[in-house]
Amino acid sequence: MKYTKLGKSDLTVSRICMGCMGFGEASQGQHGWTLDEERSRAVIRHGLELGVNFYDTAIAYQGGTSEQYVGRALRDFAKREEVVVATKFLPRTPQEIEAGVTGQQHIETMINQSLKNLGMDYVDLYIYHMWDWHTPMEDIMDGLNRVVQAGKARCIGISNCFAWQIAQANALAEKEGWAPFISIQGHYNLLFREEEREMVPYCQQEGIALTPYSALAAGRLSRRPGETSERMEKDAYAKFKYDATAQQDGVIIDRVAELADRRGVTMTEISLAWLLTKVAAPVVGATKLHHVDGAAKATDLELTDEEIAWLEAPYVPHALAGVMAQNRPVLARDRHVWPV
Ligand SMILES: NC(=O)c1ccc[n+]([C@@H]2O[C@H](COP(=O)([O-])OP(=O)(O)OC[C@H]3O[C@@H](n4cnc5c(N)ncnc54)[C@H](OP(=O)(O)O)[C@@H]3O)[C@@H](O)[C@H]2O)c1
Repeated sequence: MKYTKLGKSDLTVSRICMGCMGFGEASQGQHGWTLDEERSRAVIRHGLELGVNFYDTAIAYQGGTSEQYVGRALRDFAKREEVVVATKFLPRTPQEIEAGVTGQQHIETMINQSLKNLGMDYVDLYIYHMWDWHTPMEDIMDGLNRVVQAGKARCIGISNCFAWQIAQANALAEKEGWAPFISIQGHYNLLFREEEREMVPYCQQEGIALTPYSALAAGRLSRRPGETSERMEKDAYAKFKYDATAQQDGVIIDRVAELADRRGVTMTEISLAWLLTKVAAPVVGATKLHHVDGAAKATDLELTDEEIAWLEAPYVPHALAGVMAQNRPVLARDRHVWPV
């Protein structure tokens, strides 16, 4: 495993972050395909054995049970100071807004609940899961700074935002002497490269770490056309993100398969090796032990400039999908993508 500093922070992370959205009680949240605790623990343990020290969960994942499984496993199998734990909080609910709960109060409640779920007294990275159009940015940044000051988070990050949003938030943090966002978790992979317009150059300029999610397009970049899995069948949210562009994406998937054959490696290794040329640490989901092996191996694969260009050539711009398609004021209030 290879390691890197996370942006300007002093966190040292493995170049593969284990995505923990696939762990949790299947009856308790958005996904019906998640692993129970015993199977989740085995995947997490295998990650630790392969040197993965970076784990990404969220209060939204399966009603907090992902945080609970991850917390228990990491407490049992690792030393707290040797792992980097990231979790995320959601926007204020319409009920909280109605009741006059401030952004600062909301964040305090959320971090306390996440720490309880994890069984930890701090997280390494506390992530603003999606832009909250109905809470003043000042309240969010002040609330997050209070979390850092209280020692409940070492650093803060953001997910699902436009470059102008993180730029504006960090400018405010700098003016007020508050903690800035040190990382961005956006949707970025060989099939969806909209981050390259503004976010990637902005982060390179500012030393902000890119830790993209759905690095394998929820499995589409790991398997040949026609191959399927329980998750592929059940994950309606991923279908919603990728089905509309399946035909044009198929051209890129074919190139990933062809290059994998030429290089004698898996499609997972090709797809992640490409992303590793662009970002600090992709967040990769795993539902089987061998998935973790594939992700770890990718850190040793070097693609040539010609191979990279060949993989990239067929890309055509995509419409925003998933959470980012809802990053606008009209929809955000009433329709959270994630049930709380
Ligand atoms: N911030 C956000 O809004 C957000 C949104 C989505 C995800 N995330 C984070 O990103 C993580 C990853 O997202 P994701 O699960 O959607 O996407 P992903 O990493 O693109 O896809 C993971 C899937 O790829 C397949 N896979 C992984 N390794 C493989 C291997 N070596 N060989 C064959 N197949 C392999 C598995 O599919 P099968 O299970 O079908 O076999 C696995 O479930 C999540 O766990 C979460 O932490 C964040």
